[in-house]
Amino acid sequence: MKIRNAHIKDAYKIQELLKKYAVEGELIVRPMGDIFSQIRDFHILDFNGRMAGFIALHVYWEDLGEIRSFVVDKKFRGKGYGKQLMNLAVKEAKHIGINRIFALTRIPEFFLNQGFKKIPRAKLPHKVWRDCWNCPKYPKHCDEVALIYRIKNK
Ligand SMILES: CC(C)(COP(=O)(O)OP(=O)(O)OC[C@H]1O[C@@H](n2cnc3c(N)ncnc32)[C@H](O)[C@@H]1OP(=O)(O)O)[C@@H](O)C(=O)NCCC(=O)NCCS
Repeated sequence: MKIRNAHIKDAYKIQELLKKYAVEGELIVRPMGDIFSQIRDFHILDFNGRMAGFIALHVYWEDLGEIRSFVVDKKFRGKGYGKQLMNLAVKEAKHIGINRIFALTRIPEFFLNQGFKKIPRAKLPHKVWRDCWNCPKYPKHCDEVALIYRIKNK
């Protein structure tokens, strides 16, 4: 198993995996245009050439990034790969100098386990909800929890 930067050829497979878990209510599908334009956000969990998962770190502003499109395919869960992907995204955020990363999620326990803290959703800037506009649950029935990770750069 290795973690590598995403290649443009990964884009359709990324959407396929997003769709697979969107059906199960775990993730939101993203349009191909977004995946192509943000392909550099992605790191791929690669099992002998098969995509076993991925994570994306998206930068919003000088002090704010987001963990989004984060998944490990079911067959590979529970082996520490999710944690490895998360550690890499945090390391990358630290490297480029972002000091806060947020996540919107239905599995807050995983994120709390990784050092994230819950915050009121209203604390996040409006533009971060752009991806949610296509979600049938947004806004009234949204069941996602907002969490934030503060990076200590010093
Ligand atoms: C979240 C996800 C990526 C974790 O991947 P994983 O490879 O199974 O995670 P790991 O094996 O690295 O687990 C790390 C720790 O988190 C815990 N954990 C894993 N999945 C969890 C979950 N769904 N809820 C709560 N805790 C979880 C593990 O027990 C483990 O705890 P430990 O360090 O005390 O042993 C995976 O469950 C997934 O793809 N879920 C569906 C998509 C999703 O909800 N993504 C988040 C969207 S923001």
